[in-house]
Amino acid sequence: MSNKKRILTGDNTTGKLHLGHYVGSLENRVKLQDSYETFIILADMHAFAYPKYVNDPETIRDSVIQATMDNLAVGLDPKKAVIFNESAVSEIYELAVIFSMLVSHNRALRNPTLKEEIRDKGLGDNYSMGFINFPLLQAADILCVNADVVPVGEDQLPHIELTNEIGQKFNSIYGAVFKKVDGMVGRVKRLVGIDGNAKMTKSLNNCIYLSDTEQEVRRKVMGMFTDPNRVHPTDPGRVVGNPVFIYHDAFNPNVEEVADLKKRYTQGLVGDVEVKEKLYLALNNFLMPIREKRAYYEQHPDEVMDILRTGTSKTREEAAAILEEVKEKMRFHRF
Ligand code: TRP
Repeated sequence: MSNKKRILTGDNTTGKLHLGHYVGSLENRVKLQDSYETFIILADMHAFAYPKYVNDPETIRDSVIQATMDNLAVGLDPKKAVIFNESAVSEIYELAVIFSMLVSHNRALRNPTLKEEIRDKGLGDNYSMGFINFPLLQAADILCVNADVVPVGEDQLPHIELTNEIGQKFNSIYGAVFKKVDGMVGRVKRLVGIDGNAKMTKSLNNCIYLSDTEQEVRRKVMGMFTDPNRVHPTDPGRVVGNPVFIYHDAFNPNVEEVADLKKRYTQGLVGDVEVKEKLYLALNNFLMPIREKRAYYEQHPDEVMDILRTGTSKTREEAAAILEEVKEKMRFHRF
């Protein structure tokens, strides 16, 4: 066993990953995989929590592979990181049922991210028990390997808070098993969508995917929402809160170019087209090596399956040991 601290994070398997995932979490995963023991979860049980996916197991199944390839494409190294599939670690569901005894119904509903998802995804009151419970499932994901740090987008912090409440409650009733976990938010807390919505999310159809082709990226960037009050290129424009400039700041490494564009934009000395063209070029430079690496894995599906197989069996060992401790502390009969 290594004495490095542990990271656990991952993705719901409801499709491919996008730029919001990258700045929120993927970038930190790649950066930290050398200094932390890293576990990456492909959370397919989470996907079943959503009405849109519960009837579509094929999409969930395929997304496990797609999201694994996205993780590998951005630079997660399977020699360093343990990449695993949630549904194959049944210890997680056992933990989640146990955790559900420690959280009141009211507490489970008092979660701003759940409420936001109900609103954004138009769920009304049409959500399952599994949906209300998914933050507890997430707590089980995190605690099944006793992680120390969870790199995530800002929207996931309420689930980390709940994870700590559950861990502390368990420890105080039955005895110490779980550590305190810390959320770690990426350099952009929450990336706006190409439509100007506060959040890039598949359900709002406002994403640029890591696997988008050059043409798709170009089309999306050229159609991006900018300053709605600016009609002519000679009108002074607003840079603050403008998605095109938010993306320039996030993805264009040429800071002088960005500073110059901002200056000219506020003075009415540059058109949206030029600003967008330059953003497209910057994004494309950023995505090119990711696309290439992804293409390699698309051509080597057996390698992807092997990575998942190895990671899943490693995680099961870890989770089984923790679950054993949990059952012992809870005074379960062992037969
Ligand atoms: N729910 C997370 C998301 O929507 C993904 C996820 C599932 C996760 N299990 C996790 C993140 C455990 C961190 C830790 O992005």
